[in-house]
Amino acid sequence: MDAVSVTTPNKFHKDPTIEALQAGIHVLCEKPLAMNADEARSMCAAARDSGKILQVALQSRFGGSGRFMKEYIDAGNMGDIYFARAQALRRRGVPGWGVFIDKEKQGGGPLIDIGVHILDFTLFLMGYPKPVSASGKTWDMMGKNPELTNLFGDYDRSKFTVEDFAVGFIKFDNGAVVSLESSFMANMSERDIMKTQLFGTKAGASVKISGDDPIEIYTEENKQLFDMVPRNVPHVESQHTAEVVAFVDAILEGKESPVPGLNGLILNAIFDALYKSSETGNEEKVDVSF
Ligand SMILES: NC(=O)c1ccc[n+]([C@@H]2O[C@H](COP(=O)([O-])OP(=O)(O)OC[C@H]3O[C@@H](n4cnc5c(N)ncnc54)[C@H](O)[C@@H]3O)[C@@H](O)[C@H]2O)c1
Repeated sequence: MDAVSVTTPNKFHKDPTIEALQAGIHVLCEKPLAMNADEARSMCAAARDSGKILQVALQSRFGGSGRFMKEYIDAGNMGDIYFARAQALRRRGVPGWGVFIDKEKQGGGPLIDIGVHILDFTLFLMGYPKPVSASGKTWDMMGKNPELTNLFGDYDRSKFTVEDFAVGFIKFDNGAVVSLESSFMANMSERDIMKTQLFGTKAGASVKISGDDPIEIYTEENKQLFDMVPRNVPHVESQHTAEVVAFVDAILEGKESPVPGLNGLILNAIFDALYKSSETGNEEKVDVSF
C-alpha cells in the first residue's frame, strides 16, 4: 500500500493518519486536519519524521477561481493585500447527517467545518502569512432552537453542542488582517455565501470558490474606477478529483504536497485561538510551531 485517504469524522483523523505515516504510507486527510492544533502538531511531526506526504483535503484552491486568482495576485496585479473578509455562511444549513453537531467528535461547528475552506482559500491567495493572534466570538442560540427549520436534513436540537455562528479577527506577522464569518444558521438574504473579498493596494477582488463568473476585480486607471469580470476562468469539473490528482502526482514525482499538513495546523491553531477568545473575551496568541 502506498497511500491512504482518511475520511472519518474529525475526532478520528489523528490516529489513523499517524499510524499510516509511521508505516511508511502517504496520507490524504480530510479537512479540518484535526480537532485542535495539538493533534495537528503530532500529525505534522509524524509526516516530518517519516518523510511521507501528509496532504490536507482542502480542495477549493484547485478550482478555476483559485487557480486564476493565485496567478493574478502572484504577478503583482493586486499590490499588497492587507485585509480580507472571508465568509462561509449558510442561512439554514446544519448538516443533518453524521456527527457535525457533536463538539466532542468534531471539535466545533461551522468555523471548523466550512470556515476552514474559505479561510484556507483566503490564506492561499494571500501567500499563507504566519498568524500571530486572533480574537473571536461564537453563538449557539439558533442551532439549539427546535422552532427553527433546517434545509440540510433534520437533526435533534437537544444534541446540538457546537456553535451555529462564529466570527473572528485574525492578525498576521506581515501586518495583514483577515476577518472571518461562518455559520450553519443565520438570518440573512442569501441561502449560502462562500466567498472572500481581498483588499490590495493596487486592486480589490471578490472571489467565490465556485460557480459562474466567480470573480470581480476593482481597480483604478487614469483616475477612473473600473470593475472587471474575467470571462474565461478555467473550468474545473471536480475540485476533489483535482486534489487527488495533485496528491498522486506529488507522490509519483517526489514533490512537496501542494496542500501540506502545516496549512492544516495553521488553520487549527487559528480556530483554537478563536474558540478560546470567545470564552476568555481576550485576544489570544496563535502558535503554529511543531
Ligand atoms: N473536503 C470536503 O469538502 C469535505 C466534504 C464532506 C466531508 N468532509 C470531511 O470528511 C469527514 C467525514 O465527513 P462525512 O460527511 O463523510 O461524514 P459521515 O458521517 O457521512 O461519514 C463518516 C464515516 O466514517 C465512519 N467512521 C466513524 N468513526 C469511525 C472510526 N472510528 N473508524 C472508522 N470509520 C469510522 C462512519 O461509519 C462513516 O462511514 C469529516 O472530517 C468532514 O469534515 C470533507
